[in-house]
Formats: sequence, structure tokens, C-alpha cells
Amino acid sequence: MLALIVAYSDNRVIGDKGKIPWTLENEKKRFKELTTGNVVIMGRKTYEEIGRPLPNRYTIVVSKTTSFESDNCTTSMSLNDAINIAKEKFGETKDIFIAGGEQLYKEAIECVDKMYITKIHARIDGDTYFPEFDESEFEQYIDEYVEEIIPYTYMTYVRK
Ligand SMILES: NC(=O)c1ccc[n+]([C@@H]2O[C@H](COP(=O)([O-])OP(=O)(O)OC[C@H]3O[C@@H](n4cnc5c(N)ncnc54)[C@H](OP(=O)(O)O)[C@@H]3O)[C@@H](O)[C@H]2O)c1
Repeated sequence: MLALIVAYSDNRVIGDKGKIPWTLENEKKRFKELTTGNVVIMGRKTYEEIGRPLPNRYTIVVSKTTSFESDNCTTSMSLNDAINIAKEKFGETKDIFIAGGEQLYKEAIECVDKMYITKIHARIDGDTYFPEFDESEFEQYIDEYVEEIIPYTYMTYVRK
């Protein structure tokens, strides 16, 4: 399965000054549960913000300028290359999650089978956004509404 995973606010913000502009402890758990044991592909800036490969996952960083290599991490020059590396290395045994940021999401929306979206119910200031897309191309499932400091809803979008 090829999926993307994102949390965005009512005004589509995903980031601000290189960071995610909210802290929601349970929201992080969903990311961990879904991606553990699988492959995570992310842009160089998102990777640098995290600062290390994610534990118990294989990380592929997309970058044309910097190389990151370790036992559970490699770098590719494009999103397509990253997907091909994951497929060659793991076949169907692992799911592939594209985990941002804005630049990668723009490309990923066209090719993913599923989108795991957390809709954050607030307008939040930021400088990076989840792109507009044609929602009619996806079946939309509401998974759970959660009340934290900011309420949010877990949704799954499955390509029709
Ligand atoms: N809310 C969420 O769910 C979520 C998830 C992830 C990230 N974020 C936020 O998003 C922000 C970062 O997003 P961003 O768009 O600025 O950066 P980004 O996508 O994380 O990284 C951009 C860099 O990745 C590389 N890259 C991206 N697309 C590429 C492509 N198609 N081919 C080759 N290289 C490519 C380039 O690296 P080089 O310059 O090295 O070539 C580019 O400069 C941060 O604030 C982060 O916290 C939010």
C-alpha cells in the first residue's frame, strides 16, 4: 500500500518555521501506530526537523543536496526513486507512508491509494500548507473525533 499521512488545520496549515505548530500527544500516537514496521518517505526539511531516522521504521529522505545513510535510513533524489527503492527492498511486505512536507505532498496526492488525514479543528498561523485536491476522487471515512487542547478528527481517504 502506498499512502500519505498528514495533519492539517482548517486553513490547511501543516507547518510553521520548520516545525509543526501544535502539540497533540495522542495525534502522534496514530502516526507511530500506522508507520511502525513500515517505510516512511519524507522531504529533507521534515527529516532535519526530526533530526534522526525514526525508530522501528525504514526512512527514505528525498533530497538533491544532502545524503543521509544509516542502517535504517537512505536518501533518494526524487519521490519516484524513493518509492522504487522501498518496493525493491521490501516488496509487498511493508506499507509505504509519505509523511511530508508540503513539497512532497504536492506530488504524492496524485499517486497514493490512501490518505490518513488528521483534520485539526482550528485556524492556525503557518507558512506551509497541505495542497487543495479533488476530494471527489476519494471515498472519505471518519474514523474518530478526539478532544484534546485542540479537537481533531482522524479521517481516511481511499481512492475510488
Ligand atoms: N502537519 C504535518 O502532518 C506535517 C508533516 C510533515 C512536515 N510538516 C511540516 O512541513 C514543513 C516542511 O515542509 P517543506 O515543504 O518546507 O519541506 P519538505 O518537503 O519537508 O522538504 C523540502 C526539501 O525536500 C526535498 N524535496 C522535496 N520534494 C522533492 C522532490 N520532488 N525531488 C527532490 N527533492 C525534493 C528538497 O531537498 P533539497 O533542498 O535537499 O534538495 C526540498 O528542499 C515543516 O514545518 C514541517 O514541520 C508537517
